[in-house]
Amino acid sequence: MKVVISVGGSVLVPTVGPERVRQYAAVIDDLRNDGHEIGIVVGGGPTAREYIDVGRKLGADEISLDQLGIAVTRLNARLLIAALNGPTPPTPLETHEAAYESFQRGEMPVMGGTTAGHTTDAVATALAEYIDADLLIYATSVSGVFDADPKQDDSATKYETLSPDSLLDVVSNIEMSAGSNAPVDLLATKLLQRSGLQAVVLDGNNPEQLRGAVAGNHDGTDIIPDHD
Ligand code: UTP
Repeated sequence: MKVVISVGGSVLVPTVGPERVRQYAAVIDDLRNDGHEIGIVVGGGPTAREYIDVGRKLGADEISLDQLGIAVTRLNARLLIAALNGPTPPTPLETHEAAYESFQRGEMPVMGGTTAGHTTDAVATALAEYIDADLLIYATSVSGVFDADPKQDDSATKYETLSPDSLLDVVSNIEMSAGSNAPVDLLATKLLQRSGLQAVVLDGNNPEQLRGAVAGNHDGTDIIPDHD
């Protein structure tokens, strides 16, 4: 199965340390050893937010803040590359073309952010579209897509399945400034709408959920394309 994994920085590097990165690398290497072809996109997490907050206090413009975030995603991606056994390019790939070529060579391309104005969810969705992935996994800090923000509203209910159109309704009202916090970003959702990709949003704090998602058994939200 061709699988793209979007790993939020908040789940891969919740604090800067080796444990969680090691756990992710072990699960990803196992999936590869089971015969799956894998591409990975790593987010910036709390470290990116700290840099963005400080940059904002210093008066940086939004594009420069995005560039700070991108730099941190690539730092986190380097940690994952260090921990993986499977073949990866030595540094995070900065374009989808480079990641596509790496994937075609049989490697596991690892990317961080690319350009200002979106998040690594969008980078991962475009990569999944490019390599024609069978499954796109968003490993996030929430356990799926909810009808309200579960961190702020105790009565928020998780969807088991959603169409890309319904996902767009959920995320379209969330502010998209640098460092903002949607379960899946707006551009990623638009790309999902056009691509017909099969996707899962799940709790990335438990890397074992990745194995479950590949096997079709997880606790997250399935994003299932509309068929006409
Ligand atoms: P993330 O992709 O990590 O954002 O990018 P996120 O989804 O909010 O955080 P986690 O990792 O899932 O917890 C961090 C920031 O970097 C910039 C944006 O400002 C984003 O909010 N960024 C990232 C870009 O501008 N372009 C990219 O391609 C990626």
